[in-house]
Amino acid sequence: MAAALRYFGQAFGAKKPYPDKYDMLMDIATEEFSHLEIVGATIQMLLTGINGDLKDAAENSEIMHLLNGKAAKENMIHQGMVAPQFLVGSAGGPCYTNSQGVPWSAAYINGDVQGELTSDLRSDMGAETRAKMVYEYLLQFTPDPYVKETLRFLMTREVAHYQMFEAALSTITPNFPMGTLQSDPKYSNLYFNMSNGNEIRGPWNQGESSELGETWQYIEDPVKHILETNSLLDQKSDGSNRTEKNIKKMNDQLGKQKKEFIAEAAPIGAMQWNDALSSADESGGLKNKQGSSLKGKNNHNGARSKSAK
Ligand SMILES: [Fe+2]
Repeated sequence: MAAALRYFGQAFGAKKPYPDKYDMLMDIATEEFSHLEIVGATIQMLLTGINGDLKDAAENSEIMHLLNGKAAKENMIHQGMVAPQFLVGSAGGPCYTNSQGVPWSAAYINGDVQGELTSDLRSDMGAETRAKMVYEYLLQFTPDPYVKETLRFLMTREVAHYQMFEAALSTITPNFPMGTLQSDPKYSNLYFNMSNGNEIRGPWNQGESSELGETWQYIEDPVKHILETNSLLDQKSDGSNRTEKNIKKMNDQLGKQKKEFIAEAAPIGAMQWNDALSSADESGGLKNKQGSSLKGKNNHNGARSKSAK
């Protein structure tokens, strides 16, 4: 549910200027809805018969005989209505709740639709990672071979989705840092050793940083460093070729390129949501207003995106 609505929402922001990513996000969102169908069908099959049994049990239970008073009976029903167990037990079908009975809420995905595709796609890779692990853990909770088969299928599709998002991210360049503004080289490669005793070094705090290619600056004694640098206000840039001057230039350049890229994809004026469906050529292929194929258009966008590097 969260996955389907996350990708569904992200697709709208991606449509211009990335119609190719819109297509992918909508495809995966639709597949996630089909997973909801698979999960719903599985729950329904597992709970088949429970509905009738519960009603029967309620009518014949001793407690019903004890609750002769109308108010007592209504109170009992109220208790049942607000208890998560009632939702699970009474309907005999799937509910939009977690296993504790807490209802699904858009709060689960708010923040995952940022309108910045490189951020959205990274969030999606995290979501697919978590979903994969949930299925992996769930597999340990059932001995049922059919349920196992279902869970394994769903788990596998998360692995597939992860790679789709990763590949989509790699087609947008530059994609780091996410967004438009560059980071401040005074602070982008500082590592603060905040614990005593374990001075563990690794690629996260020594050598070159993975994306910016700067040299990590290991601050062995952060307290001393803070005192020496006037609480970092006097921090000097180290281990980076980037300067305030060329960062400002990069910010301006990238901002301008992105603005042009978006403006070209979504010019002011009358709009049509789906150019590709506006006309079909005689051979049956879909073409946009300019006559270029949707595939060609995507490539064009990709090329422009790359030129922004
Ligand atoms: Fe997925």
